Amino acid sequence: MKKLYLIGNMKMNMNYADLEPYFANLTQVAENTSNVVGVCVPSVYLDFAKYSLENSKVLFGAQNMYHEDKGAYTGEISAHMLNDFSCDLVILGHSERRNIFHESDEDINLKVKKALAEGLTPILCFGEVKEEREGGMAFSVVERQLMNGLNGLDTDEINRIIFAYEPVWAIGTGLSATPDQAEEMIAFTKRLLHENFECHDNIVLYGGSLKASNANEILSKPSIDGGLIGGACLKIDEFEQIINTKVDE
Ligand code: PGA
Repeated sequence: MKKLYLIGNMKMNMNYADLEPYFANLTQVAENTSNVVGVCVPSVYLDFAKYSLENSKVLFGAQNMYHEDKGAYTGEISAHMLNDFSCDLVILGHSERRNIFHESDEDINLKVKKALAEGLTPILCFGEVKEEREGGMAFSVVERQLMNGLNGLDTDEINRIIFAYEPVWAIGTGLSATPDQAEEMIAFTKRLLHENFECHDNIVLYGGSLKASNANEILSKPSIDGGLIGGACLKIDEFEQIINTKVDE
């Protein structure tokens, strides 16, 4: 059986009252699977996540951070602060950060370096927008995002990153990539990491309208190691079904 990584990205959703039963249920779900379970919560709930999940099998973390240690950066959160809450994970370079908040490949590179230096596991997101796919540029865009995002990192550091291919046209749209499209790009990603950084066996997830109804066919593709799950992680029953996906190695 393939060990899958199934990580929820709550984005700007949920509240304190929702999270109490959610964390209790997720703890239970994680006990009953051999897959790796994680969730990235809004940062104001990290304290609650620490309290609720610290002694469980659920990995948890944030959805963003800034690369500086401290100072006059109103609204930002540092890696040290995430470590104060015993975070395991931090999503970096999500397309919503790139497109709505104009984060560049260079910004994301600084964040990835900082997260690694502080012992956090970055979930580095990348992926093309609709026009880039339609214009035949998906592979060159992904290559640029990855090469810039990983600039200056060595093999060992890159091996500590969880990658997430998230085609922007598939995020929150209900329209996932086909299993073959996801497989093709993730296989390309692994080749790129091997050829440029001598990496083997990197963990690369798929994200973009992954749900209970398509999890099995997408996650059974050979290069895909799991999923980063937005909308479908908000309902614990659906997230549970995805987490319980069993596919052959
Ligand atoms: P989605 O989001 O599952 O709602 O498409 C995935 C993501 O943005 O990580």
